[in-house]
Amino acid sequence: MMEGLSLSRAARLAGVTRAELQARIRRGEIATFEGSVSVEDLLRAYPAVTLQDDSALERVERIKRTALPKTDSRDTVLPSAQVLLARLHAMSESLSERMATLSTAEALLDRVEERLGALTQAPLGEQAEQARALADWLRAARQAVTAGTPAEERARLLAKDAFLRIMAANVRLIPSGHDYFVEGSESILDASVRAGLNLNYGCASGNCGACKARLIQGETRRIRDHDYVLSEREKRLGYLLTCSHTAVTDLVIEAAEALSVKDLPQQRIRASLRAIEPLSSDLLTLHIQTPRTQTLRFMSGQRARLTLEDGATRELSIASCPCNGRNLWFFVRRGADDFSASAFGSLRPGQMIEIEGPHGDFVLTEDAPEPAVFVAFGDGIAPIKSLIEHAVSIDLIESFSLYWDNAHPEGHHQERWCRALRDALDNFAFTHARSDDPAELFAMIQADHHDLAPRRFYLAGPLARIEPLTVLLEEAGVAPGHIISEPTPT
Ligand code: FES
Repeated sequence: MMEGLSLSRAARLAGVTRAELQARIRRGEIATFEGSVSVEDLLRAYPAVTLQDDSALERVERIKRTALPKTDSRDTVLPSAQVLLARLHAMSESLSERMATLSTAEALLDRVEERLGALTQAPLGEQAEQARALADWLRAARQAVTAGTPAEERARLLAKDAFLRIMAANVRLIPSGHDYFVEGSESILDASVRAGLNLNYGCASGNCGACKARLIQGETRRIRDHDYVLSEREKRLGYLLTCSHTAVTDLVIEAAEALSVKDLPQQRIRASLRAIEPLSSDLLTLHIQTPRTQTLRFMSGQRARLTLEDGATRELSIASCPCNGRNLWFFVRRGADDFSASAFGSLRPGQMIEIEGPHGDFVLTEDAPEPAVFVAFGDGIAPIKSLIEHAVSIDLIESFSLYWDNAHPEGHHQERWCRALRDALDNFAFTHARSDDPAELFAMIQADHHDLAPRRFYLAGPLARIEPLTVLLEEAGVAPGHIISEPTPT
């Protein structure tokens, strides 16, 4: 049960973030086999595992609670009584199997040792000699098994693992190898969205069948009736709807994921305006909520076109995380167009807004865990905010820093968000730059990071600000492929 821990489970057991664990794996301090970590290697790297040692994990959870938009917390904390019972049942079955195997093996070893011992008493010359050697070997082998991992440490890890398995099940997706936790009795789909993954889905409510996936290993439980009907053949092959099932035990699931912007469908959703928050006389935030059955699928950093009830329309960067696709945030800068006139004039909470998208390819390079540097010029903070929230959600990037160069009168309007990130994450740094000179900003970045070449740069803002910085970064040895940019209106 315990051999071959997934990275998410190993990080949780050690009480560290996945990014930290990944960094130690990259440095060769912890070995992996087929994406898994052995108990022995984990204990060698983190010998003092205790049930309370979740500080790093708690920090990440705290950041998600305070810095990210409020999520629908229904069913996400504690498993329902039924799921809990099913998990306990599965665990007790597995535990009794293990105990039975263990006691059988021990009894067998005792008997072999006993018989060999008797054999050595017999005066049979060479045969007796061989039997003695065999008995010595057996004794040594048993001692080696016991001494492999100190029993106390192993027991502590087992206790923590058992506790975590009751609270959350781990899902591994194939062929991507992504893995994440299903907390409480949330659906396999909801948990994947929360983890920043892009499993295919449509209605999220059991009607369309787009979330169909194949269960390869593990036990699931249906959490809602669904109208979509799976064929008998599909059922035999293990297909299920991820939006309508939760995980009882750890799972391996074969599922289609959107791995690039091209894999995402274009969507058109009528959503409701929940709130308008003025940030200054020229800037406001729109909080838009989609219907429960129509979450917007997008990748962090992308844009969507908003059309108001009076027909005024504008394409805007989404300033929130895809891990909460129902709650979308946009910053609107006052301008000379109809959209601005309506947004700063007649627009009221409760009105319907049509969202069409997603558009754009300014997205996080997820398979690149090297340190990331985000640079936002003015309103370029919107897509950068989305990227950073996603980076926190997937917990794979080693470290990240944000430079926000903002000359607008309202200045740095995301102070609470930045403070929450800085307080909660050791690997996040924020600099509020106030420079019109690209060379000055570049010097600032270079002073903070000795070697720029191995980093990834995400730049968003007016083209006139992005271009000179890009030139300076390339001159400093950063490969063009490591600089991704999103020009935004001036
Ligand atoms: S997403 Fe439509 S059935 Fe699951």
